[in-house]
Amino acid sequence: MSETIQTLDAADPIDAIIGQLRENGAVVIEDFLDDDLLNRFNAEIGDVLDTVPEGRELSNPLHMAFFGAQTRHLSGVAGYSRIFATEVLCHPLYKAIADDILLPFCSNYRLNVAHVLDRGPGSEQQFPHRDEDVWIHLPRPHPEIQLASVIALNDFTAQNGATRVVPGSHRWDPQRIASPDELVPAEMRAGSAVVYLGSTIHGGGPNTTEDTRRRGMHLSFNVGWLRTEENNYLVNPIETVRDLPERAQELLGYRVHDASAHGGGAVGLYRSNDPLEMIRAGQL
Ligand SMILES: [Fe+2]
Repeated sequence: MSETIQTLDAADPIDAIIGQLRENGAVVIEDFLDDDLLNRFNAEIGDVLDTVPEGRELSNPLHMAFFGAQTRHLSGVAGYSRIFATEVLCHPLYKAIADDILLPFCSNYRLNVAHVLDRGPGSEQQFPHRDEDVWIHLPRPHPEIQLASVIALNDFTAQNGATRVVPGSHRWDPQRIASPDELVPAEMRAGSAVVYLGSTIHGGGPNTTEDTRRRGMHLSFNVGWLRTEENNYLVNPIETVRDLPERAQELLGYRVHDASAHGGGAVGLYRSNDPLEMIRAGQL
């Protein structure tokens, strides 16, 4: 069993991509965003990102340390970027992978959080962690509840802070700590993405360059019955959401999670109705 991160191409068979993800806990997908989409997206968020200071003041000092003092951090991306909401969030590869990993354990899944993490020189190795630990109260073992990714918005190198992943750590005992030599940098050219499971240990790498920023976007999905890391209802104005395709509205959490087909109930109701149906009827 190979404990490495394999690199595949977006055009490779989806079974091969998902197979690598399940085996190693992570896979790099080249050309996840083609050059045209990458350039348009970078152009759309560039001006907004330029207004974001490094080490933005956050209410929780632990979050400040987690993101780092040299990081420009932009969340609520769907509110800034229609390209994100319509073409990145709704990317067919995300759908194919998330349908396979998450749908067996939910009626639908949704965006957990999407944020641009633009890490400057001097950024240190981020604390290695499992993204799913935001739901630490859920007893283990449990099924996969999260699918995560980091998209390289410029080239990711070991020197500029490529995300470091611990291949195979999704199968580890939860108490096991990763040693530094087990962290493998996901080096990849701009437009590629490293896709990983919520149970895979990883962290932003140190940026040891003099003058090269590392611009990436973390984007993750979770099963639709869990509360999301970002409050997507507050951060994405309803005026923006109304105007989006139904798939984007669903992924932003406006589709109720209805488990009645499995003998369960519904969560995410708005006055006992499905918010997405109310948007469609012009009532929300
Ligand atoms: Fe993370």
